Amino acid sequence: MYSAAITGSGVFTPEHVITNDELVAAFNAHADLFNAENADAIAAGDIAEKPHSSSDFILAASGIERRYVLDKTGVLDPTRMFPSLPDRRDDEPSLMAEMAADAALQALAQAGRAADDVDAVICAASNHERAYPAIAVEIQQMLDIQGFAFDMNVACSSATFGIQTAADMIRSGSIRSALVICPEICSAHLEWRDRDCHFIFGDVATALLIERDEDLQTPHFKIKSTRLATQFSNNIRNNNGFLRRTRDKMEDRRDMQFMQNGRKVFKEVLPLVSKHIAGHMDDEGVNADDLKRLWLHQANKSMNDYIGKKVLGRTPEEGEQPNILQDYANTSSAGSIIAFSKYSDDLQPGDHGLICSFGAGYSVGSVILEKAE
Ligand code: COA
Repeated sequence: MYSAAITGSGVFTPEHVITNDELVAAFNAHADLFNAENADAIAAGDIAEKPHSSSDFILAASGIERRYVLDKTGVLDPTRMFPSLPDRRDDEPSLMAEMAADAALQALAQAGRAADDVDAVICAASNHERAYPAIAVEIQQMLDIQGFAFDMNVACSSATFGIQTAADMIRSGSIRSALVICPEICSAHLEWRDRDCHFIFGDVATALLIERDEDLQTPHFKIKSTRLATQFSNNIRNNNGFLRRTRDKMEDRRDMQFMQNGRKVFKEVLPLVSKHIAGHMDDEGVNADDLKRLWLHQANKSMNDYIGKKVLGRTPEEGEQPNILQDYANTSSAGSIIAFSKYSDDLQPGDHGLICSFGAGYSVGSVILEKAE
């Protein structure tokens, strides 16, 4: 058995930023239009009036201040309320592959590696732009990588499930290295017309290069241990899929976008995640005092505050549990990897850190890392 290590990371950040105030102004204009168009039905009690959203609520409920998206003009148009992403020809790179390739090149550069040092590409994300051919194979071709590539989807936990998949293949000796890439176009499946969730998501792509530890002479993060778990829940759900046409349901329906019962998710996922991390640390003999950093899934600041306190047994000190959700919002599988990529350089050899992602499924994944020279 070999060991696996993270040797490079990269983050592609889109150019468009939407602040809470911009988002709320567009939503409120949309709500006013909706209410005017449906005035009679609302007066008759057949349709509920759309209430206004508020920046103060968004910040207090989630900690989110802004989000990056691939296209803000479509999202902020009160008569449209979703991104406008022009169709691409089959001989052009897909959007996901393009943003993934950008993040992957950053990860390779950080590790001082080239395409021919990579044996496999895993595109791990909560949505894939098409069913086939796999986006991962397209990324592989764009970067001129040999070997094999495949897509996988475990919603917000896709990154940690991807890390374990790559690490297991490296441990067994079937590959020496893999890129685990999480391109997330959350703006395309978010329902921007629903005030309960319109502030939640943003777009981004992250990449990690994972290599055989025994081959390394430069600083890296040794993957000490990984642990995954799932438990079925309908509280985060999207019913869109390839059977839609067969069911004669092609109309614009709410359940074709991201749906969640946020309160229930909050209540049910917190104990699940806290218990998962505690069990993983216990089994590996890692104490709270050993952990220098927690890179958590980035959905909600209060959730992260709660998990940080549970895991460390005290309120995390400044920098111990870095959040990026105030700037990026929830970027599904990419969130914990953005936090890792931006807040890991200062760790010293021997320091431990833990990546944890969680979300729809439910799913939870944790990765214990140790900085090594
Ligand atoms: N502006 C103003 N008020 C709003 C609002 C908005 N944008 N959205 C909801 N409200 C109102 C609600 O209607 C509700 O009003 P009521 O008390 O009169 O019924 C009140 O604010 C509280 O709404 P609620 O949805 O219960 O808020 P919350 O505190 O649970 O926060 C989330 C909402 C989504 C931020 C929170 O539940 C959450 O983050 N959950 C976990 C989500 C998660 O991790 N999902 C994983 C996704 S991958």
